[in-house]
Amino acid sequence: MNTHYPLFITGTDTEIGKTWCTLALIKALQQQGLSVAGMKPIATGCHVHAGALHNEDAEKILAAASVHVPYEWVNPYSFVPPISPHLAAEQTRTCISIEPIVKAYQNLAELTDIVVVEGVGGWRVPINAQQGLREIVQSLQARVILVVGLRLGCINHALLSAETILRDGCQLVGWIANEIDPYFEVTDSVASIRERLAAPLLAHVPYMSSEMELQADLIERVKR
Ligand SMILES: Nc1ncnc2c1ncn2[C@@H]1O[C@H](COP(=O)(O)OP(=O)(O)O)[C@@H](O)[C@H]1O
Ligand SMILES: [Mg+2]
Repeated sequence: MNTHYPLFITGTDTEIGKTWCTLALIKALQQQGLSVAGMKPIATGCHVHAGALHNEDAEKILAAASVHVPYEWVNPYSFVPPISPHLAAEQTRTCISIEPIVKAYQNLAELTDIVVVEGVGGWRVPINAQQGLREIVQSLQARVILVVGLRLGCINHALLSAETILRDGCQLVGWIANEIDPYFEVTDSVASIRERLAAPLLAHVPYMSSEMELQADLIERVKR
């Protein structure tokens, strides 16, 4: 199976709708007839449930998948403090490494056509002293989607993030405009980002909508 490269969902910041868009994207891909799984490889701000650490994002992603899989495949690294992953790992005297993430991904990829992987924070978040999200994306051979939370400052954050993703040698397949603020006038910001980014606008997610109408050629562009 696994006929497509994984999609890695990053964002202009934390709390801008990565999880919201990951869930909408999983649903949209399922509506295209694909079997889909999701991952939240590193999660902070976790709670204890039945003696194990769990994260809300990961639980939603687990529930949205086309297949039933163990929680650990979706979220191999979970930490209680709601802080940057490298700091959370330091506090608990662990070190995040890429290998378990790749192993968990391979398990999911064997059962599905495509895996959608939610990042953590924005693009430049460290995962340990040497590595960041770039190394995860490259190890998974993932294609990146940038979720832009539409609010004041989003043009700057969108352009900086896109520039850095490309400079890191990762493939940016496109961006998603996500309406997180019902009072923010989005039209001019979306147009301004569109004019300046080579990567296409893949979808526009309205406030409170879980529907995502994907630009049709996304599937073509992530085919192996
Ligand atoms: N399109 C949207 N419409 C309404 N609320 C949204 C939308 N996208 C995100 N939110 C809300 O904004 C908050 C942050 O979204 P979330 O997906 O958890 O962000 P992230 O994963 O980037 O931290 C959540 O409370 C979520 O329900
Ligand atoms: Mg999230």
